[in-house]
Amino acid sequence: MQTNPDVHLTHVQSVYAGPEGRLWELLMGEQIHLGGLGSSLDLAERASVPAHSHGVDLCCASGAGMRFLLRFRGVAQMTGVDATPAMLALARQRAAAEGLADRLRFVQADVCATGLPAAGFDFVWGEDAWCYVEDKARLIAEAARLLKPGGIVAFTDWMEGPTSMTPADVRRYLTFMKFPSLLSLADYRALLEQNHCEVRLALDTGRFAKHVPLYVDMIEKQLTYDALKIIGFDQALATALLGEMRFLGELAQAGQTIQGLIVAHRKS
Ligand SMILES: C[S@@+](CC[C@H](N)C(=O)[O-])C[C@H]1O[C@@H](n2cnc3c(N)ncnc32)[C@H](O)[C@@H]1O
Repeated sequence: MQTNPDVHLTHVQSVYAGPEGRLWELLMGEQIHLGGLGSSLDLAERASVPAHSHGVDLCCASGAGMRFLLRFRGVAQMTGVDATPAMLALARQRAAAEGLADRLRFVQADVCATGLPAAGFDFVWGEDAWCYVEDKARLIAEAARLLKPGGIVAFTDWMEGPTSMTPADVRRYLTFMKFPSLLSLADYRALLEQNHCEVRLALDTGRFAKHVPLYVDMIEKQLTYDALKIIGFDQALATALLGEMRFLGELAQAGQTIQGLIVAHRKS
């Protein structure tokens, strides 16, 4: 596990309430994770998310993952938990605009302490977001607490890869991304096992290195004006951001960071 003790939830909330969050949405779309709909379909398929089930999305952002699950997997109802009020306002607005508001519920809370009832859900869902959570041990304990016996936890996340990073690269990566820590597949496996979950799948999706060049291309070749507008036409900042995006791409190419995918089941 790699850590950056200088990053806290308030920093992450500022990102997702401000220009940086809008920039991520410009590049990735409403589903703010590597691979968009394809990644969600892959995760849902590998996890065998059941139709007519009730799930909870931990770090739901604007709720696109939950709307995906209702539309594409026949999930009955989703509860989304997020700590950034601006994201939840957007989530409620989009749920209503798509006519799905009656099947979606939103909770503003830290995902480490959601206040939701124990054993209330068939599955826990997360997409490329748990990297932002400060206390991963409490997050996984909370995910396990929310699951019914036999329930599924299915998530993708930005993780440490098999090749180690230098301390300077760790600091640069976690500072740029505002990640308080970065776990490996093995770190998550250990936490899940400590919380009575059996890990059925733990793999590298292989998407990270392929997708970062796409985002760099979009900024440079198509969405340049839009990106600049979001950051107040600050050219120096744009150059710096592009440099950091390329750096992420290099880490991914070197196997130092991955999009990990995990599916685990809560033991009865
Ligand atoms: C990358 S976005 C999530 C993207 C979303 N899963 C999707 O696929 O569209 C990260 C979100 O995590 C939320 N977040 C980060 N740390 C959190 C925490 N400790 N508790 C609740 N929400 C948190 C942020 O507010 C932000 O909306």
